[in-house]
Amino acid sequence: MAYNLLKGKRGIIFGALDENSIAWKTALKVKEEGGAFTLTNAPIAMRMGKINDLAKACNAEVIPADATSEQDLNTLFTRSMEVLGGKLDFVLHSIGMSPNVRKGRDYGDLNYEWFLKTLDISGLSFHKVMQTAEKTDAMNEYGSIVALSYIAAQRVFPDYSDMAQAKALLESIARSSGYRFGKSKKVRVNTISQSPTKTTAGTGISGFDVFFEYANMMSPLGNATAEDCAAFITVLFSDLSRMVTMQNLMHDGGFSSTGITEDLIEKLTK
Ligand SMILES: NC(=O)c1ccc[n+]([C@@H]2O[C@H](COP(=O)([O-])OP(=O)(O)OC[C@H]3O[C@@H](n4cnc5c(N)ncnc54)[C@H](O)[C@@H]3O)[C@@H](O)[C@H]2O)c1
Repeated sequence: MAYNLLKGKRGIIFGALDENSIAWKTALKVKEEGGAFTLTNAPIAMRMGKINDLAKACNAEVIPADATSEQDLNTLFTRSMEVLGGKLDFVLHSIGMSPNVRKGRDYGDLNYEWFLKTLDISGLSFHKVMQTAEKTDAMNEYGSIVALSYIAAQRVFPDYSDMAQAKALLESIARSSGYRFGKSKKVRVNTISQSPTKTTAGTGISGFDVFFEYANMMSPLGNATAEDCAAFITVLFSDLSRMVTMQNLMHDGGFSSTGITEDLIEKLTK
């Protein structure tokens, strides 16, 4: 059921790779709620071509941009305002990649060039996105900017490797830029710490299936799905959350506040 929560609002959605992506589900939900947007992803991800199916379904233009390139981001924001016919009300940063994780490097044997890439793509790019938004004067007052995080920013999940540092950086940037953007434009900036979700980025972490199951058993509501996350992002983009900013919001079915569950005890004592 749709409520027209985003009627008349414009934005940019980063990171829809395929139909499992959190950004993909978000695009469909935002469209359903009346929002208009451009879609973007790294030029290399465009080769899959899937994003064009989503663009068709959402009547959205696709503008390629490597989120680590200030030049690409400048073009993206400028062009998005042209295409959409005005300044923006929402931005979703749904981007993550670690070459060390992808290539299976042990945390005691990291390649530091790759570590820097992890931080740049998965953390610093959030600052670049917001700095570009500010420099191009792209945001309307009471706009909303959201990025996706994971609880490994606060607690150790060994296989998450250098992505844990990238998420800690991301969450810190949300606070600093949230302060700045709040003061200057009343724009809010938040991160959502999402449950393990079966996507390309998620399942790329070794042992994913085990910690997906573990998190599910440790969450009274079970794991939040990509669709649940899309709904929550939509609320954060809407006027119903105007005073929420500089937060890392747990969207995890209760996982982060749970010590142990009967389900887990039963499993371990069998
Ligand atoms: N899947 C999970 O378990 C989970 C849990 C918590 C948080 N997250 C976060 O959610 C976000 C979205 O990931 P997802 O799970 O939907 O997976 P996904 O693989 O579908 O999305 C990741 C996206 O990042 C894009 N990307 C990579 N490098 C880029 C670059 N240089 N410039 C622009 N885009 C680039 C990819 O092309 C892809 O579209 C990520 O920040 C991820 O860390 C995922």
